[in-house]
Amino acid sequence: MAEHNLQKIDLSEYPHINKGLDGIVAFSTTKSFIDGQSGDLIYSGYHIDTLAENATFEEVCFLLWNDRLPNKQELDDLNKQLRNKRELPEPVLSYIQSTNKKAEPMAVLRTAVSMLADFVDETEGDNSYAITLTAQMPTIIAAFDRARNGNEIVAPLNEGSTAFNFLYMLNGEKPGEAAERTMDLCLVLHAEHGMNASTFTCRTICATESDIFSAVTGAIGALKGPLHGGANTAVMKTLLKLKDQGDDADPVAFTKGKLDRKEKIMGFGHRVYKTFDPRAVHLRKMSKTLSEETGHEYLYEWSEAMLKTMKDEKNIDPNVDFFSATVYYSIGIQPDLYTCIFTMSRVSGWTAHYFEQKANNRLIRPRALYVGEKNLEWVPAEKR
Ligand code: SDX
Repeated sequence: MAEHNLQKIDLSEYPHINKGLDGIVAFSTTKSFIDGQSGDLIYSGYHIDTLAENATFEEVCFLLWNDRLPNKQELDDLNKQLRNKRELPEPVLSYIQSTNKKAEPMAVLRTAVSMLADFVDETEGDNSYAITLTAQMPTIIAAFDRARNGNEIVAPLNEGSTAFNFLYMLNGEKPGEAAERTMDLCLVLHAEHGMNASTFTCRTICATESDIFSAVTGAIGALKGPLHGGANTAVMKTLLKLKDQGDDADPVAFTKGKLDRKEKIMGFGHRVYKTFDPRAVHLRKMSKTLSEETGHEYLYEWSEAMLKTMKDEKNIDPNVDFFSATVYYSIGIQPDLYTCIFTMSRVSGWTAHYFEQKANNRLIRPRALYVGEKNLEWVPAEKR
């Protein structure tokens, strides 16, 4: 038997383990800057408030991919490319039509995106693949929602913005200006956010020199989790549970009860923001306006009551997922589609980080501190 006389680890020799890589700076990036103390977010030089007021989602895509805003011709070209690439490959469409109608939309999106890799022309290159992914995710999401509800799948139009076309494919009718602007602003607000878990996943896969479809598929898996992008769906489920309580619905008691049981309340807290998430500022306004316009003001009022309770009890603020739930609900989108909408926006940030990683790559491979047994003697199975 080989002799291994390994010493017991002296933990004092090792640096502190940063659980969840909290506070670890692993990359430099030009894609976004987050100030968690002041609650500021910048995409490649432009404050989120500036972009929320002025930019379309397509302009943000170009900005993230190129570190500058497009001129008129470049923007027209990108819009044209996105429109021309909305149709899905036939086998992907038939998967969507034939898969389990009760499957989670995020699981179907993850599978369909992974399939897209089989049908692209390998001479196209990553820039083109990023456009394909951004153009086709809305089609995948809308097609599955139509199919699972027994409705005819609506083919994408070769006109209109990403937001316009998505709502058209989802509802089977062209949206009004207000609904389009709401969706477009949501896509702008969800596009990019530094080294969040799904972007880190994307960069880790890119760093092995794997392909962009694998990196985005992995990122979808990460975003799906309720501690990350899945929180918006969880927020809506919480509010609908409250609604089921009818006149007994009490958002303050509900929130305090969960805190007393040491349960996390979805849509609140953030690893970086220790104040109001600047994206939630815009979504809060949209939630108030839209819930009042659509007769759902009670959802907004409950949200504000939960917000106040979380602030008073734990000094914790809402994140991007909290008010986005009632915004999407007010425009008639089914709760289990909310994370898919997050995905069809964040694909722009993921692919921007993929390009950045690829341009200055090193394999991502941290260490782990082994704290298990060593030098154990072998005992045959019959004697254990
Ligand atoms: C997104 O990273 C990104 O940028 C992500 C994102 C993006 O754009 O990509 O911003 C999008 O994912 C937003 C986050 C969505 N997730 C949720 O809403 C899920 C609920 N939130 C929590 O699980 C939590 O706040 C996290 C996961 C978001 C952050 O967790 P951390 O940084 O690991 O913090 P923690 O769990 O260690 O909590 C610190 C303290 C704890 O209290 P103590 O045990 O110290 O007394 O704060 C408490 C936690 O219990 N706390 C909460 C809470 N979040 C933190 N308590 C109740 N409810 C919560 N939501």
